[in-house]
Amino acid sequence: TLEKPPGQMKNTLTKLVNDPAHPWIAPAPDDQRDPCPGLNTLANHGYLPRDGIATPAQIVNAVQEGFNMANDIAVFVTYAAHLVDGNLLTDLLSIGGKSAKTGPNPPSPAIVGGLDTHAVFEGDASTTRGDAFFGDNHSFNESLFDELTAFSNKFGAGFYNLSVATEFRFQRIQDSIATNPQFSLISPRYYTAYAESVFPVAFFVDGRETNGSLNMTVARGFFQDGRMPNDFFRSNISWGLDLIGEGIGFIFTPHPIEPGTNNGTLNSYTLDPNSADFSDFCKLYTDFVNVTVRGLYPNATGPLLNALNQNLDFFFGPLGDQGCTQVPAFV
Ligand code: HEM
Ligand code: MG
Repeated sequence: TLEKPPGQMKNTLTKLVNDPAHPWIAPAPDDQRDPCPGLNTLANHGYLPRDGIATPAQIVNAVQEGFNMANDIAVFVTYAAHLVDGNLLTDLLSIGGKSAKTGPNPPSPAIVGGLDTHAVFEGDASTTRGDAFFGDNHSFNESLFDELTAFSNKFGAGFYNLSVATEFRFQRIQDSIATNPQFSLISPRYYTAYAESVFPVAFFVDGRETNGSLNMTVARGFFQDGRMPNDFFRSNISWGLDLIGEGIGFIFTPHPIEPGTNNGTLNSYTLDPNSADFSDFCKLYTDFVNVTVRGLYPNATGPLLNALNQNLDFFFGPLGDQGCTQVPAFV
């Protein structure tokens, strides 16, 4: 049996997290890093194993301890990623690309490619990473960061905040519609695109501040170098599905865009009525299990089937409270 997901921490107040026990150390060449600045930072500060290969339980603990992410969203996001990008038998996930360190591969079509894998979790119109269509979906992209800085100057008086997030999220989607013939913005990416725009406001702002404004030098440290500023205190509140959902609503409402894709040509964005959207959060869950995960594991048996079903149980855990019904175990 696999290790169960950790629960919520006892102390959920702000505290120094860039402390002497967690110094920033640049990753070694073979250490895995990439599309997620939050997890890169936790690995560079030793809240996660510095080689970037971690168990889901280690990731849940690290995002809680290092950033004060609440347990419900920490468990939901971590097990979603692990189910599609991790090795279910060894319980190991690469936070970057595919790695032999996660152990022997299950039969294809399972991928076990780490967080860099396109389309099962990682997706288009990212904040500071390019679309997979352009050849690199995971490295820090200076021109995107420059654009983000320009938007922060224009809409946030030099800071990243939810108003900047509103405009930049919209801009990144418009940009992909106009330049990426294979642009896709359907669930689960539809949700993560909006969530990742809220995360810097929630988690990269020092917990002793209450204005929701992220200094862009600090932002560069996180996005580019996976680095907390000196004397960094984590958030003073636990950000869970409820608060992140409020942030998403703030960003979505002024420029509502429904899930869809370009259909092989530029500027051909077509709505996809089959994709989950913000009106039905439980469909995000059921489609992820029945379509995305099932697609990777169409006929698992034995220990693999057992590990799959345990991870699906862990993934559902936070959703009982959201009024969702659990998909029956795979057989
Ligand atoms: C993006 C995974 C927690 C901040 C991503 C992406 C993945 C990912 C796969 C790439 C999505 C894309 O842009 O295509 C995870 C997992 C987490 C987690 C499995 C476990 C709980 C966090 C935390 C933070 C964070 C705690 C903040 C402290 C971000 C941001 C992006 C991102 C800001 C957008 C990056 C960009 O394009 O500039 N994450 N993440 N994540 N994540 Fe995480
Ligand atoms: Mg991406």
